[in-house]
Amino acid sequence: MNILVTGGAGYVGSHVVEELLKTGKHRVVVLDNLQKGHRDALLGGEFVEGDLADEKLLDKIFTEHSIEAVVHMAADSLVGESVQRPDKYFRNNVTNGLNLLDAMVRNKAKYIVFSSTAAVYGEPIRTPITEDHPQTPTNPYGESKLFFERAMARYDHAYGLRHISLRYFNAAGASPSGAIGEDHRPESHLIPIVLQVALGQRAQVTIFGTDYDTPDGTCIRDYVHVTDLAAAHLLALDALAEGAGSNVYNLGNGEGFSVREVIDMVERIVGKPLPRVEGERRAGDPAVLVASSEWITKELGWRPQYDDLETIVRTAWNWHKQHPQGFGS
Ligand code: UFG
Repeated sequence: MNILVTGGAGYVGSHVVEELLKTGKHRVVVLDNLQKGHRDALLGGEFVEGDLADEKLLDKIFTEHSIEAVVHMAADSLVGESVQRPDKYFRNNVTNGLNLLDAMVRNKAKYIVFSSTAAVYGEPIRTPITEDHPQTPTNPYGESKLFFERAMARYDHAYGLRHISLRYFNAAGASPSGAIGEDHRPESHLIPIVLQVALGQRAQVTIFGTDYDTPDGTCIRDYVHVTDLAAAHLLALDALAEGAGSNVYNLGNGEGFSVREVIDMVERIVGKPLPRVEGERRAGDPAVLVASSEWITKELGWRPQYDDLETIVRTAWNWHKQHPQGFGS
């Protein structure tokens, strides 16, 4: 299949590209504006530097490469920033996303796999979270992703655009190949931050809140290996190509770990204690986010290969050790 991957130079995107290329059966075109993505994260395929705001560029890509399917991951994705800059999130994730859908309709591309998020659920009222859990996002990031899911449903009804939304829980780890990993600038995610402490690049990790209603008082998250996430995109593309209807699936391991447990695991793997301090809660963090991914396992046969926290942290550490300054080091 000829596949356009938007945001393919980003963290999850680059791992999706790696898995697509491994199959040997797809032609991959990556569109990325490199605002957050890294050119070095791309292991192959054809690269186009550009933005979803550029409708002419989109038409050119669709016609020149006879694009049949899209994996759409280009987006802003920081909860805190979205509260400060809702304009940026609605413009990039919604308005520019609609440019992509319109280009798909104009150019008769039929399928889209969309990178969605657990943030569409807001504060959970039951856990583990299933896909039919009420969707009441508590920040513009989650709202922008939920709006896009709904827009796709309308485009399906009106124009026959079939789609699968994948609601990621906490993407983590690095490719077991050792070639690519997580590199956000500035870094805001827990595991890479703790690894930066291990590398001596940060003095300490601050635990955001120790008074949550959880066994050790810190937030619980469902960490899912980025290569397992990537594999789900391939299953979704295959399902759509074989005629599956539009759908939405959670992606998590169904097991939650507290912030303290994650730091303990990193200490065990790097083999030394790491300075940690207890700080205030971070605005907008739900206490517990754990997925039920039974639906995608049942429907598409998704089975995570790297589903234990130890392997997730080990692969991340392996990449960070080899690339202490991230891509380019
Ligand atoms: N945390 C700390 N200290 C840090 C960084 C994080 O204690 O220095 C805590 C956070 O408060 C949270 C947990 O570690 O409880 C995980 O935080 P991350 O920033 O790694 O990930 P999030 O859970 O905030 O974010 C993820 C995805 C988002 C998505 C969100 C849904 O990365 O895209 O889940 O809530 F929107």
